[in-house]
Amino acid sequence: MTTQTLPAAAAGRFTIGGDLDVARLGYGAMQLTGPGIWGDPADPDEAVRVLRRAVELGVDLIDTADSYGPFVSELLIKKALHPYPDGLVIATKAGLTRAGPDDWRPLARPEYLRQQCELSLRHLGLERIDLYQLHRIDAKVPLEDQVGELVLLQQEGKIRHIGLSEVSVEQIEQCRRLATIVSVQNLYNIANRSAEDVLSHCEKENLGFIPWFPIATGELARPGGPLATAAEQHGASPAQLALAWLLRRSPVMLPIPGTSRVSHLEENVAAAEIRLTDEEFQALADAV
Ligand SMILES: NC(=O)c1ccc[n+]([C@@H]2O[C@H](COP(=O)([O-])OP(=O)(O)OC[C@H]3O[C@@H](n4cnc5c(N)ncnc54)[C@H](OP(=O)(O)O)[C@@H]3O)[C@@H](O)[C@H]2O)c1
Repeated sequence: MTTQTLPAAAAGRFTIGGDLDVARLGYGAMQLTGPGIWGDPADPDEAVRVLRRAVELGVDLIDTADSYGPFVSELLIKKALHPYPDGLVIATKAGLTRAGPDDWRPLARPEYLRQQCELSLRHLGLERIDLYQLHRIDAKVPLEDQVGELVLLQQEGKIRHIGLSEVSVEQIEQCRRLATIVSVQNLYNIANRSAEDVLSHCEKENLGFIPWFPIATGELARPGGPLATAAEQHGASPAQLALAWLLRRSPVMLPIPGTSRVSHLEENVAAAEIRLTDEEFQALADAV
């Protein structure tokens, strides 16, 4: 099979920042850790299989972060996939510290961002990170210092492009006055569209929009959940409908569904093949 005929390719492609051409259905590697996104996963061998299978299926955008584990997710990506195939885009992040399971605290002082970038380069086995995302804007640090440090890292060749996470339209524009921003990663799924204004802004400015919790961290995949009846009618699974809806919603949409299982990964990537009509798209939106 060529890249064009691999299952993920059916989602179509988007070029992030003018030169990172990716299939619009990616993979989020946050679930490859222990409970509370802390420590090692229960089944590290399955985690490696998930990553390798994702690439086999044509996924070429993998999202991770220093804080997933911390570092567990990045180290698994390196173990499973290094040396990386041409064209694989690994997007990582910094800006959240961890003090235990489910504990996330913003920290984006310049020296911390620099340290975490150096550690991510080492843990991923990269000389340059393709997409480096500010995980959270730190309200205690001047924005110029946070984004300014990312620009310095970019000038030094340690990162290729800069992305943002959990930001408002106003924050995107503030950051764009300081740097070239290529993507935004916000919470968004068919059941939670509170970032609609940010998505519209990304469409207008041709920024990649990476919706996190694309299947509402599993809630939308649940048997008997809000998409269950429609899924039965479509002959698809609820998770697949949640992803097909996102792909249909916008050409800048780059969902990164997360899973720790090969079977769920295969099911999720197969959603790239589903085409929703305008009526079906609207009916799903109304159903949740
Ligand atoms: N920027 C941010 O602040 C931020 C925050 C959160 C997440 N993220 C990123 O977004 C990615 C996606 O978010 P997420 O992984 O938390 O949530 P998600 O993709 O909405 O859902 C993942 C959950 O759904 C389950 N699941 C996945 N596929 C399934 C299927 N086909 N059938 C049934 N259950 C299924 C998974 O369990 P199994 O493991 O059992 O499949 C997992 O518990 C993350 O991996 C991470 O890269 C970013």
